[in-house]
Amino acid sequence: MNLFFSISAIVDKRKFVLSALLIFCGLSFYLPLELYFKPQQIPYLQTSLVILCYAYFCSPIWHGSQRQHPLARADSENTIYIVSASQTGYAEQLAEQTYATLKGSQQAAIHLPIDKLNLKILTSAKKILFVVSTTGEGDAPDHAAQFVSHIMSQELNLKQLQFAILALGDQHYQAYCAFGHRLSHWLHQQHAHCLFDLVEVNNADQAALRHWQRELGQLTGQAHSPDWSTPDYTSWTLAERRLLNPNSVGLSVYLIRLETTQEMNWTAGDIAEVLPQSSLNAINQHREYSIASLPSDTTLDLVVRQVRTPDGQLGLGSGWLSHHAQVGDSIALRIRTNRNFHPLAQARKLLLIGNGTGIAGLRAHLKHAHENSHTGHWLIWGERNRQHDFFFQSEIEHYLNQGTLSRLDLAFSRDQDQVIYVQHKLLEHAKEVRNWVKQGCAIYICGSLHGMAAEVETALEQILGETQLHALRVAGLYRRDVY
Ligand SMILES: Cc1cc2nc3c(=O)[nH]c(=O)nc-3n(C[C@H](O)[C@H](O)[C@H](O)COP(=O)(O)OP(=O)(O)OC[C@H]3O[C@@H](n4cnc5c(N)ncnc54)[C@H](O)[C@@H]3O)c2cc1C
Ligand SMILES: Cc1cc2nc3c(=O)[nH]c(=O)nc-3n(C[C@H](O)[C@H](O)[C@H](O)COP(=O)(O)O)c2cc1C
Repeated sequence: MNLFFSISAIVDKRKFVLSALLIFCGLSFYLPLELYFKPQQIPYLQTSLVILCYAYFCSPIWHGSQRQHPLARADSENTIYIVSASQTGYAEQLAEQTYATLKGSQQAAIHLPIDKLNLKILTSAKKILFVVSTTGEGDAPDHAAQFVSHIMSQELNLKQLQFAILALGDQHYQAYCAFGHRLSHWLHQQHAHCLFDLVEVNNADQAALRHWQRELGQLTGQAHSPDWSTPDYTSWTLAERRLLNPNSVGLSVYLIRLETTQEMNWTAGDIAEVLPQSSLNAINQHREYSIASLPSDTTLDLVVRQVRTPDGQLGLGSGWLSHHAQVGDSIALRIRTNRNFHPLAQARKLLLIGNGTGIAGLRAHLKHAHENSHTGHWLIWGERNRQHDFFFQSEIEHYLNQGTLSRLDLAFSRDQDQVIYVQHKLLEHAKEVRNWVKQGCAIYICGSLHGMAAEVETALEQILGETQLHALRVAGLYRRDVY
């Protein structure tokens, strides 16, 4: 063993020095040291050798802890920064691929989320590639709040900066790629120069992505960039489909349970991209669904509302999962990491707010809290009628009995004359909401953007004030998975 260690050490200077010290240390117990040293000096000599070996052995650990953060090491002359602003994880994924392409061309590069892009970097960097999506109605992603309010409100001299923007959006929205354009306009106003024209990506359009890749090739002088295909869909099996709202006056909502023989790996907050079988264009026709379970459940659960097109046909994605696919059929799916809706590194009390199928994302967080014995959370959730639309009733009541939830407020809009939605529950309990926020809770919102998230935001602004809500957003304590 020692011999093997010593031989292989020849190719590794560190190991070689360490081996020599160890061998000398071992031999020191057998060599006739008394010929050269006084007998009382020998134990000191042997102890010193052992300490030397130990110190040398530990030095990489110490060096590691002293290593600089990549940002501190970055050389702003030569480094290309890639800055991502992403609401549901796609821009972040493309920024990672941009980063890998640059690194593959031996180009010094750093990928930062936009909340880490400070004035110091912005005013010294020579090149920044922005990969940004638009959310809401032409809004910047939530984690860009600080950048928008504190940096984009300033007048700066960015003459030193060359930039490019990959703007993600969807042409179905009126304010198409609005945040990308707003950022571009602001950078021009600050005298920054664009490396090439803004590239719009309509709903993951591959031609636009290839255009961006070609521009990256020009930038690095590399004609061929690595394969940019997004992770492949894998085949899952539809294990169970259960109607969650029999006799509801609303559209049918199904629990969809999927199984795989492969390793399951995702985090609460992640999103499943499903490729319906009838879809011909793999890129444009996928549909996203919030994952409602954890890998420890051994099934990937979705909560899917069956929607219909104006001519009465079933929607492509919801129709596939809720009707056309049969139990036992294969479902093509890939998981998209959605860091902005992940659990926090340090557990806090959660104020979970949602409606309808938004229970999916909230359920994954409740499961995560339960699994980690984090107790005392508050769920505010709404649907139409208690009798027919209380999805996961026994599970939620179990969490309440077990203490995972310390509080539950349900807004069944049609159980009384006057409609009650989750935003009304928030306003009704404004004082407690303020107390929870004061005590450091994090707010997670999941469900429809229109008809819930926008109204919840207005209610929270009313309860907490715009400044405090903005501060929560900046601190990453106001997290949304809304659609
Ligand atoms: C990040 C994210 C997470 C999502 N999570 C979920 C989830 O957990 N559960 C869930 O059921 N859906 C979720 N969705 C919505 C889902 O991706 C699909 O948009 C929805 O299932 C409709 O797609 P479809 O293919 O069935 O309908 P399409 O064939 O696209 O459209 C059919 C008809 O329905 C209308 N329509 C489209 N979307 C909706 C909608 N959301 N509500 C009502 N009508 C609509 C269209 O205008 C059209 O008339 C999520 C979306 C995003 C972006
Ligand atoms: C709730 C919601 C709102 C959106 N609003 C807009 C919009 O106003 N303008 C636009 O061009 N795209 C809009 N989009 C499309 C996204 O920008 C697009 O899906 C993008 O690829 C998402 O990237 P991300 O995952 O990095 O956030 C919206 C998407 C969602 C889910």
